[in-house]
Amino acid sequence: MDRYAVLGWPAAHSKSPPMQRRFAEQTGQRMTYEAIEIRPEALADALKRFHAEGWKGFNITLPHKLAVVALCERVSARACIAGAANCLLRTEAGWSGDNTDGEGLIRDLHNQGMPVRGRRVLVLGAGGAARGVLKPLLDEKPAELTLSSRNPWKPEEIAQQFKPYGAIRPCTHLALKGDRYDLIVNATSAGHSGQIPRLPGQLVAEGGACYDLSYGTAFEPFRAWAQEQHAEKIADGLGMLVEQGAASFELWRGMRPQTADVIRRLRAGA
Ligand code: ATR
Repeated sequence: MDRYAVLGWPAAHSKSPPMQRRFAEQTGQRMTYEAIEIRPEALADALKRFHAEGWKGFNITLPHKLAVVALCERVSARACIAGAANCLLRTEAGWSGDNTDGEGLIRDLHNQGMPVRGRRVLVLGAGGAARGVLKPLLDEKPAELTLSSRNPWKPEEIAQQFKPYGAIRPCTHLALKGDRYDLIVNATSAGHSGQIPRLPGQLVAEGGACYDLSYGTAFEPFRAWAQEQHAEKIADGLGMLVEQGAASFELWRGMRPQTADVIRRLRAGA
């Protein structure tokens, strides 16, 4: 049996094991998938050991996504640009790191009927989660991509770094006053402490959509804000989670699983 796992700290409540097992069932793949908790200081040794033991691949979750890049033998272009990896593939020499988060977001935005092409798009937050989705969003050719955070420096630095891939307008949240966006993507971690960034009112354009990379209770503050702003469509990041998992599965097994049913089941708590 080929062995796979998600590595995190904590990892026990990860939705990846039921999801990947369903993909395996659906496609008739003989593989196991579990959640393994690894402390940050133990990650390097654990990856060497797993390689020696013949494991085939891993998903990487918090807090290891950035640190794991330095532990890979090879890193894909998209993981390099994001500065983070969420998927490892076994090679003879060591681990090859990739990043399927951005692809997962774009696929879920399509599933949700939230187009990016030709739209005014705002990304809130300038941490690792935002970095991972900026290039895939730019590749969809939005009319405008603005990146905002509480202070101007991080968005400015990121806009400079991403210049080869397209224009990003760096901004503070408060300087967004008077702007209107067709799609607002919340990439802050504020929801995990029950908050949202302080934002000016009326940011959502007529018929506009709001998408949060978080799901579960961390999504609630942004959902409430988006409802107050009369966003026409509001979505959490559960679909993105499933789509990044499906993209990882495809890298490992060379076949694409169906996602709609798995998203439905996870949403129903199954
Ligand atoms: P990740 O690596 O998952 O992106 P992070 O870097 O800890 O997580 O946080 C991402 C963003 O969440 C940061 O940009 C941070 O905003 P600032 O750049 O303004 O500091 C934002 N964030 C976290 N908690 C926040 C809060 N309570 N209010 C507003 N923004 C917050």
